[in-house]
Amino acid sequence: MSFDLVLFGGTGDLCWRKLMPALFQAFKHGTLPAGARIIGVGRDDLSDERYREQIGARFDQVELNKRPCGDEFERFARLLEFVSMDLSKPEHYAYLGNKLAQRQADTVVMYLATAPTLFTTIVEQLAAAGLNTARTRVVLEKPLGHDLASNRAINHSVSQVFSEKQVFRIDHYLGKPAVQNLFALRFGNALFEPLWRREHIANIQITIAEQLGVEKRGAFYETTGALRDMVQNHALQLLCAIGMEPPINSHADAIRDEKLKVLRSLKPWSSETLAQDVIRGQYAAGVMAGLPVPAYRDEVGVNPLSQTETFVALRTEISNWRWAGVPFYIRTGKRLAGRDARIVVNFRPTPHAIFNSQIGMANRLVINLQPKDGLELHLLAQAQDNRQNSHNLTPVQLDLDFDKRFGAERVGAYERLLLDVMDGRLNLFVRSDEQEEAWRWVEPILTHWHNDSQGPRLYAAGSWGPSATSAMIARDGFCWAEES
Ligand code: BG6
Repeated sequence: MSFDLVLFGGTGDLCWRKLMPALFQAFKHGTLPAGARIIGVGRDDLSDERYREQIGARFDQVELNKRPCGDEFERFARLLEFVSMDLSKPEHYAYLGNKLAQRQADTVVMYLATAPTLFTTIVEQLAAAGLNTARTRVVLEKPLGHDLASNRAINHSVSQVFSEKQVFRIDHYLGKPAVQNLFALRFGNALFEPLWRREHIANIQITIAEQLGVEKRGAFYETTGALRDMVQNHALQLLCAIGMEPPINSHADAIRDEKLKVLRSLKPWSSETLAQDVIRGQYAAGVMAGLPVPAYRDEVGVNPLSQTETFVALRTEISNWRWAGVPFYIRTGKRLAGRDARIVVNFRPTPHAIFNSQIGMANRLVINLQPKDGLELHLLAQAQDNRQNSHNLTPVQLDLDFDKRFGAERVGAYERLLLDVMDGRLNLFVRSDEQEEAWRWVEPILTHWHNDSQGPRLYAAGSWGPSATSAMIARDGFCWAEES
């Protein structure tokens, strides 16, 4: 199959950090179609050769086991070309069109990894140049807009040019192996489903903690913040995967219909819950791995008086028969104590205790997304050497380490999603109505913050965020998994 991938934002951060390494992995795994061509688009005036060199140099910064060996990069680089474009100029799209017409590939993918403010211009120009043919697919990177209105405007302009089945809205968390395994765990096994409800589950905690700061993206982050960057998309998609009803089949729309229902069932915000159940923080200077790191306000491109949040923790509920009353906690932030993404499902304790165990000790299922992916099932057992008092229970763990079980060379999130785009599989992509619903739900938080003079709470880089986060969960009588 011949295949052209046009990467708008071809010299940008996402391209070299995530997309090129993922494409390289697909190349190495032999899953990139033999006739693939990757065309980077950017403003710079670069020859193909210079572009290849620039991309090659960036590979020094990707994870060690993902770097090319021997002549691997040279062979991959032959697929790379570069087109310099001013995205507002029709003649530049005509030039791109000529280049694409030279080979009439079976599938053309337009990957929009630019600022979302350019999406409308790009799709309109593509249409004007006749580049929205039936063999074209378009990939839209998050964030898709900065609020509901801008999201709708983008979705509307895209829908004028492409049909929904041609549109692949990326949320790379859906491509993570642990998230696909969550679907498998829930809908491929009969074991958990009967327990997956309010009668048996006390609370669910979704944590996406990063150690990195904003790096070189200060200017972008200033207008985005953690709520738009992580909660509106990644965290809510994880919440959907945990909370959704079993879909009627594995088709994209069956899955997306169920996720949409979860988003529609999220408890609406009130002034009381906005004040109590949402915490925003911003990292102050601190020490990480023994080295001092600057405060967010001292990062390049950041306003020294910035009120942008680099941390969000919130409590919500899914108001339906399955989940009513079960708190779902979401927590995400930059410059936290660890790189740790996981979902913790805390089951209720046994209704009547005949053994001695610490108060509140109960079963727990942990779905680890990062740094390693796997599952842990926490059970209570009787220790072998516990002769003194045979009624004492102690916590033990069943561990499933996916790297050990399936090998560490598994398909990463971006690689998985890029392969799905090539195959036209939409299961792991977000539909426009899901995205709009997620924006609808986060918007009251944005408005509340806008009108709230208090600003974000500062937390030391290297900590777990503002202490109010623990107080919020303690109000329900619970604590974060790492505190128990
Ligand atoms: C991106 C955010 O969507 O996800 C980044 O824009 C964040 O700010 C990144 O660092 C985290 O992704 P991962 O896969 O490294 O957890």
